[in-house]
Amino acid sequence: AGRPQRVRELATERKRMRGALMPILHAVQEEFGWISQTDIPVIADVLNLSVAEVHGVVTFYRDFRREPVGRTVVRICQAEACRSVGAVDLAEHAKRSTGLGFGETTYDGRLTVDEVFCLGNCALGPAVQVGDKVHGRVTPARLDAILGEAR
Ligand code: FES
Repeated sequence: AGRPQRVRELATERKRMRGALMPILHAVQEEFGWISQTDIPVIADVLNLSVAEVHGVVTFYRDFRREPVGRTVVRICQAEACRSVGAVDLAEHAKRSTGLGFGETTYDGRLTVDEVFCLGNCALGPAVQVGDKVHGRVTPARLDAILGEAR
């Protein structure tokens, strides 16, 4: 089955829930990694909402990704404690070595670089998350190794 059909199923299964739109959007993002512009009319149709209403919710919440996400997502913590130990430079380094700014994905769909705000690893900053693994005290050289593995 194609993506629109699967999105319709996910939406239909949840349409009787209270505030069904949020659980539906989370379910779509969980399954596909992001919410496509073409998912929105399908969800709007199932819930009997306008496309503008659904689009408004998708764009309002930062949690919803609107770009395809790479197979590996490298998230560089940009919260205060990590910033004070070089997280900003680390992000610039990532951009220089991959060409990717936050939220961007390589053309081959292998790697996404993104920011995150605190990974609970503040004592060991700068912190970088790859999948569910958190790396501490990440130097530019270690970051290159992490990015190299992802690609
Ligand atoms: Fe980066 Fe907490 S501020 S892990």
